[in-house]
Amino acid sequence: MKGIFITFEGPEGSGKTSVIKAVETALKQRGIDVLVTREPGGVAISEQIRQLLLDVDKKEMDPRTEALLFAASRRQHVIEVINPALKEGKVVVCDRYVDSSLAYQGHGRGLGIDEVYRINHFAIDGTLPDLTLFIDVPPSIGLNRVFANGRNVDRLDLESMAFHEKVYEGYCILVKRFPERIRAIDGTKPLERVVERALEMIATRLDEE
Ligand code: TYD
Repeated sequence: MKGIFITFEGPEGSGKTSVIKAVETALKQRGIDVLVTREPGGVAISEQIRQLLLDVDKKEMDPRTEALLFAASRRQHVIEVINPALKEGKVVVCDRYVDSSLAYQGHGRGLGIDEVYRINHFAIDGTLPDLTLFIDVPPSIGLNRVFANGRNVDRLDLESMAFHEKVYEGYCILVKRFPERIRAIDGTKPLERVVERALEMIATRLDEE
């Protein structure tokens, strides 16, 4: 039996991580065999790549290098974690995946969504999400949340507001381009409401199996 692959996407401070935690609890309560993971998923090779990617001192990093490193990290995570779990029939929920690269590197950095999709196509080799939930929070609200709640600020958080606006625009393009796969949820609503919407959409997808 092949499992189901669900990804969560959103700009900085969209609250994805809290939503995913609540979704995981609810799915487990319903007896669903769920595996929650996040890029780089605790995989040693991917963790090392991530350290390089998020290091605030690596200001010289070229956008294509950045895109290739995210794709390389993703590849190892797919091979070691995602594909084996899907093979076991699990519902795999991943915090960020290929659409992050399309929005951040493709549109945010201006490399082009199609160009970045090509290298990711090579990296993921067919492991595309069955459903992607985009937690829609405008960047001004999201970044305020990040700086207010004092989480560690990484190299990408420190980018300009213009960059984050582009990333958000990138996500909006993706929602329009892949309407059958990507669903937007209003992330400015209270957490319980966002979780409820996410669970409804997941239930609909599971019922289709
Ligand atoms: P992450 O630690 O998951 O941050 P968040 O809590 O915002 O989800 O991701 C780190 C940063 O890396 C975040 O700014 C998004 C960015 N990123 C990309 O630019 N491209 C990618 O492919 C991925 C997975 C993340």
